[in-house]
Amino acid sequence: PRITLRQLLDHAAENGYAVPAFNISNMEMGLAIMTAARETDAPVILAASRGARAYAGDVLLARLIDGLVETFPEVPVCMHLDHGNNLATCATAIQHGFTSVMMDGSLLADGTTPAEYAYNRDITARVTEMAHACGVSVEGELGVLGSLETGMGDQEDGHGATEKLSEEQLLTDPEEAERFVRETGVDALAVAMGTSHGAYKFTRQPDGEILAMSVIEEINRRLPDTHLVMHGSSSVPEDLRLLINSYGGDMRPTWGVPVEEIQRGIRSGVRKVNIDTDNRMAMTAGVRRVLSDNPGEFDPRKYLKEGKALMTALCKARFEAFGTAGHA
Ligand code: G3H
Ligand code: 13P
Ligand code: ZN
Repeated sequence: PRITLRQLLDHAAENGYAVPAFNISNMEMGLAIMTAARETDAPVILAASRGARAYAGDVLLARLIDGLVETFPEVPVCMHLDHGNNLATCATAIQHGFTSVMMDGSLLADGTTPAEYAYNRDITARVTEMAHACGVSVEGELGVLGSLETGMGDQEDGHGATEKLSEEQLLTDPEEAERFVRETGVDALAVAMGTSHGAYKFTRQPDGEILAMSVIEEINRRLPDTHLVMHGSSSVPEDLRLLINSYGGDMRPTWGVPVEEIQRGIRSGVRKVNIDTDNRMAMTAGVRRVLSDNPGEFDPRKYLKEGKALMTALCKARFEAFGTAGHA
């Protein structure tokens, strides 16, 4: 069945687990994620970005979700818009059956000036009023998360996004977060807690703490009914990177957020964990392996099947690690 983000994360908070939000842009990714959810008895958040909607087209994407929900009736599914950028993007997602939308009002700004805060608050409050009238949940964002529109992070200069900004710029201010939620009414809040988007988060193997645990705990203390969301949560597995490279790929050394670090975040109140890069890598590794081992192969089902299998394994590992398994 289809459920809202609020329903899903309320249950997660009551039971002390988190739900991964996996990005989806085609049928194979959808099947891989849903198969993992079925096999671990987990609820799931399927997230579609504006890029995914443009790639598949809204009608096909909506029918794909219908098909997945019908094919996997035992899996609770929240269909979520990732990084919506205005009222229209959120409204059309709702028209196409999404049960949750993210209004990312921090996209245009670094959020630090009063005018930028006011813009974010006003647009997010408008989206929340509209979405709640439709029975749809809303995620807002406060703080700077590198690499999405800013182009930070996924660059060719070898520096991870988080290494370019000062600590202060990167972390969400708990007091401002409390005010933002009061003024907008969002169900969930993405906060800057030390991560960034894309594969190139850290140029060295992280030693010790990555996440600003005190910030997470303080926001959670001030906002017990608002679910905390952690973007940029791919772990960028070394084995997948090496697999990609051993079959003709070329990903330079890089590190993501260790799973144990995400588990610490979950213990401090993180309830939604956004993952895209890891699944892109899993799909690519499988496809590369089949094509490289069988240069004469030209049936897309043969290589996509292998990418799907690696992606399912990755999703299952995350459902287990985040405590989502068994909560469908
Ligand atoms: O947060 C961004 C997700 O990884 C989606 O990326 O905009 O390239 O689809 P995309
Ligand atoms: P990653 O790039 O770390 O997978 O983050 C994805 C994300 O935050 C989608 O909103
Ligand atoms: Zn994101």
